[in-house]
Amino acid sequence: MASIDIDHLVKVYDNGFKAVKSISLPIRDKEFMVLVGPSGCGKTTTLRMIAGLEDITGGEIRIDTRRINEVEPKDRDIAMVFQNYALYPHMTVFENMAYALKLRGMKRAEIQTKVDETAKMLGLTDHLPKLPKQLSGGQRQRVALGRAIVRKPKVFLFDEPLSNLDAKLRGEMRYELKTLQQKLATTAVYVTHDQIEAMTLGDRITVMSAGEIQQVAAPTVIYDSPYNRFVASFIGTPVMNFLDGTLTGADQPVFKLPGDAAIALAMPERHEFPSFAGKPIVLGIRPEQLSHGGYTALPKGGSTIPMQVTLLEIMGDHQYVYLKRPGFETPIVMKCNAHHRAAVGETIPIHIDTTMSHAFEPGGDQARNLTLPKGFTRQA
Ligand SMILES: Nc1ncnc2c1ncn2[C@@H]1O[C@H](COP(=O)(O)OP(=O)(O)OP(=O)(O)O)[C@@H](O)[C@H]1O
Ligand SMILES: [Mg+2]
Repeated sequence: MASIDIDHLVKVYDNGFKAVKSISLPIRDKEFMVLVGPSGCGKTTTLRMIAGLEDITGGEIRIDTRRINEVEPKDRDIAMVFQNYALYPHMTVFENMAYALKLRGMKRAEIQTKVDETAKMLGLTDHLPKLPKQLSGGQRQRVALGRAIVRKPKVFLFDEPLSNLDAKLRGEMRYELKTLQQKLATTAVYVTHDQIEAMTLGDRITVMSAGEIQQVAAPTVIYDSPYNRFVASFIGTPVMNFLDGTLTGADQPVFKLPGDAAIALAMPERHEFPSFAGKPIVLGIRPEQLSHGGYTALPKGGSTIPMQVTLLEIMGDHQYVYLKRPGFETPIVMKCNAHHRAAVGETIPIHIDTTMSHAFEPGGDQARNLTLPKGFTRQA
């Protein structure tokens, strides 16, 4: 059992830089919590405060209701896995995995059993006598995992453990980590700036920026109901398209683009629209909510408007089509079937399905999403 309560946590570094600005985050027992956000947003700092590797400037961290601010790292019953493995180069795989157990004075036979068990689980049995330099990156990262798991800690902390691996290995290790997590059922906090890892591994995701929490929710909620423009633009590849325009008509709301084009807004949550009628808003449309009008059978909600193709990126089964029309400052991106034919320079009808789209207040990262249900909370 281990819940982690992060309560108004603050970190000010010696040079006066405020890296974490009073974040509160309850992490549930056995939960896999992913912290995601751009470089420098305070992910590692937060993790290191949980581990006890960094002093806490303000606030409190509790594990199972016990305040741990002053508890020594070695007494926190936490294991941390780093990006750079941090294996002991002169020790074999077996010795690397056995080291922490030895330090605790565990008996030889018991160490042998535990290391063997863990090595088997991670497919490392044949590598036990080898030195780290004789292993591939993926195998080394597995040893680092093994070293953490073998101790059976209350909490796992991961700091970008897969970022040194190539794309294929990352995919495999992601699968292994997820399977492992289901088997071990231990509370984990996992830091990454890879949104695929965040979406696939997290029971919940915490999106951070500049030392603050932007949103905490299950992956699908983060994707389908981003709290603000920052979250909307941070999660999703290619990124959500943002269009500047004006909201007209409250009952049958329409988004007027500069020029003559208009898009019917069909999202279900419209209670904020009356107060924005006649005012500028920003429409957020994910690439997959656009489709080639020539191939669309029955559009759900929204409108079809002509746009010009400026670039194609064929990804195999699907393609990204970059589109322009007068009044768009930057091209917008459509994700569609690779067989939906489009040629650069051609103008084609584009259907915009707004049933799952979002409208934002004008403004920057903090601009609120105006199409969330009443009572929707930033941290769920
Ligand atoms: N020892 C330090 N002294 C002063 N500032 C620091 C120190 N360590 C980190 N910082 C700053 O604190 C901020 C948060 O750093 P942190 O390492 O937590 O970011 P991160 O979210 O893990 O980023 P990345 O994705 O690049 O690893 C950064 O702006 C960083 O420059
Ligand atoms: Mg970091």
